[in-house]
Amino acid sequence: MFREGLTFDDVLLIPRKSRVFSRKEINTTTRLSRNITLHVPLISANMDTVTESRMARAMAEAGGIGIIHRFCSIEKQVDEVRKVKRAENVMIDDPVTVDPDQTAREVRQIMNARGVSSALVVEKYGKKLVGILTSRDMLFEDSNGRRVKEIMTKKVITAAPNISLTKAQAILHEHKIEKLPLVKRNGDIAGLITLKDILKKIHNPYASKDSRGRLLVGAAVGVKEDTLSRAQALLEADADVIVIDIAHGHNARVLETVKMLRKKFGKKIEIIAGNIATSEAAIDLIKAGADALKIGIGPGAACTTRLVTGVGVPQLTAIQDVVKIARKHDVPVIADGGIKNSGDFSKALAAGADTAMIGRLLAGCKESPGEYVMDRGTAYKYYRGMASHEAGNDKAVLDGGKDGFTRAPEGASGKISYSGEAAMVISDLVSGLRSSMSYLGAHTLSEFSKNAEFIRITEAGLHESKPHGV
Ligand code: XMP
Repeated sequence: MFREGLTFDDVLLIPRKSRVFSRKEINTTTRLSRNITLHVPLISANMDTVTESRMARAMAEAGGIGIIHRFCSIEKQVDEVRKVKRAENVMIDDPVTVDPDQTAREVRQIMNARGVSSALVVEKYGKKLVGILTSRDMLFEDSNGRRVKEIMTKKVITAAPNISLTKAQAILHEHKIEKLPLVKRNGDIAGLITLKDILKKIHNPYASKDSRGRLLVGAAVGVKEDTLSRAQALLEADADVIVIDIAHGHNARVLETVKMLRKKFGKKIEIIAGNIATSEAAIDLIKAGADALKIGIGPGAACTTRLVTGVGVPQLTAIQDVVKIARKHDVPVIADGGIKNSGDFSKALAAGADTAMIGRLLAGCKESPGEYVMDRGTAYKYYRGMASHEAGNDKAVLDGGKDGFTRAPEGASGKISYSGEAAMVISDLVSGLRSSMSYLGAHTLSEFSKNAEFIRITEAGLHESKPHGV
């Protein structure tokens, strides 16, 4: 007899008596891992068409978290982590600087690379502030060859490095400016306060922050020779969580890597390990020392693992099997892959997952890596499985080793519709989740999974669940 495995489209959640009268009463706070709390149970996938610093910032600002992918050099990955860490610190202590003789073209490149809209101008070979270049200075600057000293604003309003936030806010208000460079007595730059960061702080009380008020960010590592040095560099850059990202997480090498990282970094590291789909894998990874488990073998939109290998477990059953074990050990669980809408997101959490990881739904956003492309009047972005032929990582993703065998790709790739700002996509997903929680009479996510009763549906039921006849 075969066991039956079910996934999102096979079931619906049964509504029950509710005492939830307003969605304001609903709290979506959850745990990402043993020691990290999030207000929004969403994670952007560690894929090279989904999460670099821009997406990770957007995720943390919205209350979730992004995991910077590992398909780049250690330096590049560390740099992406640093960009997030610097993003919402109201006082930026190493602002981007340029020198007066650089050209507008060079400055644009620097601003794009660093993800900023302004730069402080400092004297060549020194730290003395001589001007500021704002996005307005650059706006109508169409000659790429002009020098910074010709286009910068020379009269700069500044403040002392130890200024309070309230005073800084008052100066920004009084002078109707958006950037306030902090300058030492000798004229050297000590930092920068921006209006945007102050507003974000006020309007985003639920943003995911570390103990120093900086946005949370995670980063992925593999199980290769560079794993230890990569993890070390990422931790030095203050990455909050390290994801051991392997297609088959129930692998002796993954278990050894979890143990090795735990031994080396002790409590300084928060480890998410995966991907897995069985209770046996959950037991082994928890024993090895994982702080959270990531579930999903083949459910993702760009996955072809199940077609290529015949291996996998339908995602809802995989979540339930892992949750049974993880709950006993108080280890949070991440449902990774296959979420097509807020209904699937809700079902994953109702089945007991603490958070969900999303690839495709976020890959079309403005903040995912790469620019959108126009094709016959429609905007698209690219999305590719990390084990796809196009990503060229098949061997690395699958085993991280150099066994000399070529592997069949296990991922697909293609264009997907451009979907605007990540904040909107996140808000739609969370809004659907809140409604789902209210249908189940749940004020919190733990009540939600306790109250959840699934009903299995037929093809006709699935058809009925979708718009028809309109
Ligand atoms: P969604 O459905 O949100 O899924 O796009 C994202 C997850 O898909 C996994 N992933 C892959 N799985 N081959 C696979 O079998 C691949 O090439 C591949 N690339 C990503 C991954 O777990 C991701 O978070």
